[in-house]
Amino acid sequence: MGWIQDKWSFSENPFSIKELYAQKELDTLFVNREKELKQLITGLDSSEGGVVYGISGNRGSGKSTILNKVLSEIRRGGNLTLMVNTSGTYSEEEYLKKILTGLCDQLDDKSLSQNMKKEVARIRANLLYDEKVTKEKTSEDSIRASIKASVFSFFGSEIGGETKASISDQIEKSLKPYSKVTLVSELLHLLNLLKKDTKQKIIVSIDETDKCGFKEEEKCLDVIKEVLATRDSHFIFVGTLNFYTNFRQVFLGNEEEATTSSIFCDVILVQKLEDEKSLEIINKRLAYYAINGKYRNPFEKNALKVILEIAAGNPKQLMRLCSQGFIYCGEEGKQINAQELMDYFMGKNFIERLSRTERVYFRIVERLDAVTAGSDELIKSLKTAKVETTSRQQNRVILERLVKKKFLYKRTKVNNNAKLIEYLPTELSKHVFSK
Ligand SMILES: Nc1ncnc2c1ncn2[C@@H]1O[C@H](COP(=O)(O)OP(=O)(O)OP(=O)(O)O)[C@@H](O)[C@H]1O
Ligand SMILES: [Mg+2]
Repeated sequence: MGWIQDKWSFSENPFSIKELYAQKELDTLFVNREKELKQLITGLDSSEGGVVYGISGNRGSGKSTILNKVLSEIRRGGNLTLMVNTSGTYSEEEYLKKILTGLCDQLDDKSLSQNMKKEVARIRANLLYDEKVTKEKTSEDSIRASIKASVFSFFGSEIGGETKASISDQIEKSLKPYSKVTLVSELLHLLNLLKKDTKQKIIVSIDETDKCGFKEEEKCLDVIKEVLATRDSHFIFVGTLNFYTNFRQVFLGNEEEATTSSIFCDVILVQKLEDEKSLEIINKRLAYYAINGKYRNPFEKNALKVILEIAAGNPKQLMRLCSQGFIYCGEEGKQINAQELMDYFMGKNFIERLSRTERVYFRIVERLDAVTAGSDELIKSLKTAKVETTSRQQNRVILERLVKKKFLYKRTKVNNNAKLIEYLPTELSKHVFSK
């Protein structure tokens, strides 16, 4: 797409919904989440092990990015961080194997002792054997022979052929299928050795807990409960809101949720992003992708307002709207205005439609500029418009529905020492019915 460079001087589309991961991105594009970072980093710093944290929040709220930032800070402090993705697992054994495989894969290029390397090689060989035994119909002997050869290649050139062959022999002799119990003990064993070997604090994080196909997120926690208790490591789990809700329920006295309560020392709830921080994300990205450091914001002020209103504090949604709006409306190189952006978003169903009654209410608020649920003006206008029920309570329900659909926003007004909630039209709403 040459126009992004030619018309806008960006090296590529500045907006991406991918989590921030690379160190350079985390250093330059991350917008601070002081509270969440502080809570996690202080907690991990002050404990020697056996501590489990949760990061929870809505889809796209910025959980993985916060996790990556925390891990990068922890690595800077000289600790070892390991990250596992368990999405797509459907049984307890699969889940445990995926964690074990994920850990071993990341230990490949770390400077470990010979003994540690040998153990990693043994576990990897056994995982491979286990997979082949369960999936392939080849004879046991040929499976063993092929695995023995692959173990041989695992060690670098620093150890001689004879030693490699003897290690490979030992490993080949010990191959056996894994069970749930042996997988748990293998995980415990690996973390214990790693702690002794590296003398570092070890932090294992597991993202996308909710995408692992178990019916409930807590079930996967139950499977590795024993591993989580080890003093050799810390754990961070990332999942959707269920985590948080369950955790809260425990404190409200729901005994059934005992698994979550006994495991987590804290669950961090990722909050909505304030509008200034959303704008900061956009500006940082524009500066980062600008060729020669100079850039124009592709969106006019009111168009940005519309984007912020629809995104409602969700960074992934923010990136999606910016990216699609830019690609669709930015080709000519002229700054995108709110109306053309809205036309595009409406076509894409980013904006919810209004019911007939909601539309009547909206038109009245639009004409009056601002209303409270019980205001005389509102009630009078509703009567004129022949809306039958006009109690304050019913008005509030419909006004709140309009807030949810982002046609209205609320602000608090103080009148004779009483706090009143006022409803006003959003920027977005101004462009919906104009055609
Ligand atoms: N603090 C932040 N600073 C800068 N960009 C952020 C921040 N938080 C989130 N983003 C951006 O928002 C988008 C979504 O973030 P992320 O993938 O971390 O959310 P998530 O909650 O893990 O999403 P999902 O529920 O889909 O796993 C990404 O494009 C990311 O770059
Ligand atoms: Mg994520």
